[in-house]
Amino acid sequence: MLRVLMVASEMAPLAKVGGLADVMSGLPRALTQLGVETAVVIPRYRSISLREAQRAFHGLRIWLGWRPYDCDIWVLTRNGVPVFLVDQPALFDREGTYQDPSGNDYADNHVRFAVLSRAALEITRYLFRPQIIHCHDWQAAPVILYARSTFALDPTFIATRFVCTIHNLGYQGIFDRSALVDMALEPSLWTEGWIEFYGRVNLLKGAILLADHLTTVSPTYAREIQTPAHGHGLENIVRQRADALVGILNGIDDEYWNPEQDPHLPAPYNQADLSGKRIAKQQLMREYGWEPDLSLPLLGMVSRLVQQKGLDLLEAISDQLLERQLRLVVLGTGEARYEQLLERLATSYPEKFAIRITFDEALAHRVIAGCDILLMPSQYEPCGLTQMYAMRYGTIPVVHATGGLADSVSEDVGFRFTEYTPQALLEAIDRAVTAFTEPEAWQQRIQRAMSKDFSWRGAAARYLELYERLVQSPMS
Ligand code: ADP
Ligand code: GLC
Repeated sequence: MLRVLMVASEMAPLAKVGGLADVMSGLPRALTQLGVETAVVIPRYRSISLREAQRAFHGLRIWLGWRPYDCDIWVLTRNGVPVFLVDQPALFDREGTYQDPSGNDYADNHVRFAVLSRAALEITRYLFRPQIIHCHDWQAAPVILYARSTFALDPTFIATRFVCTIHNLGYQGIFDRSALVDMALEPSLWTEGWIEFYGRVNLLKGAILLADHLTTVSPTYAREIQTPAHGHGLENIVRQRADALVGILNGIDDEYWNPEQDPHLPAPYNQADLSGKRIAKQQLMREYGWEPDLSLPLLGMVSRLVQQKGLDLLEAISDQLLERQLRLVVLGTGEARYEQLLERLATSYPEKFAIRITFDEALAHRVIAGCDILLMPSQYEPCGLTQMYAMRYGTIPVVHATGGLADSVSEDVGFRFTEYTPQALLEAIDRAVTAFTEPEAWQQRIQRAMSKDFSWRGAAARYLELYERLVQSPMS
């Protein structure tokens, strides 16, 4: 039987910052349903209760150079998938996942995820022996670096194949050179040909070069990251590995994101009966402090408030947009400058614009269900899940045609704009709002959106195919 160990820094609902967490719960579950024995390794953050967990290893000592890090490994089962939790309180028992409450990255993030990665390799040695270790993003990149250097001659890993998935090339795990010592990385890795990057350590770069295979989360993004516009300085490195790179569009968990049985909604609904969606819209307007008015188009955004998500375009069009007959709600957290911008808008246009600056899973469901139109003007978007959730809930996306947005939102359902300019966004919103005023055609659009199949089944089969091919291929 094929056995796969996934290593990542998030997994919903245990620890979630963005879409990575959703993928880490949906993909392993779908693979398990295809008969792949799949397990996941994540850190045991403060937010994760051990009530249902069992201790699988007590006092696992990891040495990074002369510094010992003692970990306990706990295991619990989520949707039939074993989840190994790396419990190292000094590193992970903290308020935030990556950042302190004032929004600064923890200074020792490189050490935190080095320990996660080394623990994953020890889990492979003692607790779960996979043919494939599938590493997600820079936080799991050290798994591949250690396996290919420190443990290059270790029989445990000799036949193991390593897959690296890039969820967002904008985050590469770049640290000062001193990280080499802190993480006890082999000095031989410190060349431009591996992890050196303009005098600093770049963990993802090393993993891209050393993995057996690379994937990213949409076919369009797989092409985009080979260009200077989207390569974040690694385009040449990615191009070097183009033969080993494939883009597989993420799926969504269509049982969890299902308007027919979503406990967060005021009323269930489906394609045949959309009355629950109208109730969701009314309740959402009330929740954001307005009198319900079904005739006004309700636009929404659920997003990390970071540069990538197109907030500069929204800022540029805000005055023009909010003169129109519509309402806009935003749910998000992120960079202070965007939080402040949105708060200013809410103060200036209280009748039309409202914001909740918080991370709230239940409210995310209510916004996605209650809106007519979901905005996703991302400057770049490796995959994006929110637009797929929106379509499943009969909410029409307006998207910048980039990455996974281009691959998942077709013209017959959503509204796309190609040039990344405020004018193009405004024009796409205008098209959507005009379409909203024609009820019959709008209803048909909703039907088309809800008929789309974005489930994990197809994507998981693609990953399985890749794993099988790798396991059968001769060692390079
Ligand atoms: P990214 O991973 O870049 O943030 P995705 O669209 O892939 O973008 O995934 C975002 C995920 O995070 C979705 O599940 C979305 O609902 C969720 N999300 C983002 N912001 C919030 C928030 N403030 N509250 C609750 N959920 C949020
Ligand atoms: C990243 C990307 C997002 C993608 C998610 C899951 O956070 O920004 O586009 O959907 O990972 O792959």
